[in-house]
Amino acid sequence: MTAEELRSLYFDFFIGKGHTVIQGASLIPQEDSTILYTPAGMQPLVPYLLGEKHPAGTRLVNVQKCIRTGDIDEVGDSSHLTFFEMLGNWSLGDYFKRESITWSYEFLTSSKWLGFDPEQLHVTVFSGDDQVPPDMEAAEIWEQVGVSRDRIYFLGRDDNWWGPTGNTGPCGPDTEMFIDTGKPSCGPECRPGCGCGKFFEIWNDVFMEYRRTADGQYVPLEQKNVDTGMGVARTVAMMNGCMSIYDIPQFQPLFGFLKKLSGVGSEPDVQTLRSLRIVSDHIRTATHILGDDQGIPPSNLDRGYVLRRLIRLAVRHGRKLGIDDPFTSRMAEIVIDSESSVHKELARN
Ligand code: GLY
Repeated sequence: MTAEELRSLYFDFFIGKGHTVIQGASLIPQEDSTILYTPAGMQPLVPYLLGEKHPAGTRLVNVQKCIRTGDIDEVGDSSHLTFFEMLGNWSLGDYFKRESITWSYEFLTSSKWLGFDPEQLHVTVFSGDDQVPPDMEAAEIWEQVGVSRDRIYFLGRDDNWWGPTGNTGPCGPDTEMFIDTGKPSCGPECRPGCGCGKFFEIWNDVFMEYRRTADGQYVPLEQKNVDTGMGVARTVAMMNGCMSIYDIPQFQPLFGFLKKLSGVGSEPDVQTLRSLRIVSDHIRTATHILGDDQGIPPSNLDRGYVLRRLIRLAVRHGRKLGIDDPFTSRMAEIVIDSESSVHKELARN
């Protein structure tokens, strides 16, 4: 399965459930100076999650370009990227937990859609804390649709809470969907959320029913929303039986270019593989920042500094691979060639 095929299946499925396709937003937030880059699909939709009427209605579906640099040190493992695309279906005060979970299960397991073996699917739900109760309702719905109790896990706020994207705003407990890759477990405590790579997170459904206030309180929202986020690269990896997102077709031209330039062989050692992945990820992200319609140049402040740092890290890891000549713009050309059929702005800009 390619990223294009996944996008088209996802849109077809949710159009069939009454959703309207909306355009994703720029990577550079236009209305929010507290955020450097768009980190999630919800960020451009915050006013509508807080109650403003969206012109396209109350059921929306989109794909959003995102940048997250908070876990930049994880990039190069099997599942982290600084730039990624996220598919999302949205309920703005319309359906809530039951429909959201039922549809997630259907899309993941029906042979008409992704057709994952239901036994491969493990889910997590919010275990509750002193401010918000455990999400028993989500767990019950998962069980009713067909996920056995031993594949439903209760985890805390670090794992099963989403938002706000800044300090204040809409947020809520989420439920996360993991595919068991079939790798042996790393020990008796191994479960979704463990970093060993056995369980691979591909999607989350956020039940946005709270607003975090400036003094850290969680106030119930009048309008209850659903915000889901399916990682395109992660899901394509699982659909193709890949153990890593870097094994999906999208990355292969970048690795091919780097290997040819550096002379790295077909079986690189762990450090070399990590450098190949970091260079590819960072140049891809930098290209999407520069190629955005609101694109910005590298600089020594804020957004421009993040971009400069990504390029510098890519160059540093390029040197580790033994590449001394300038190569970054040649790699950017590869990103533009392979991704501008979907991201037309790359070619335009
Ligand atoms: N749907 C929330 C997120 O992962 O961005």
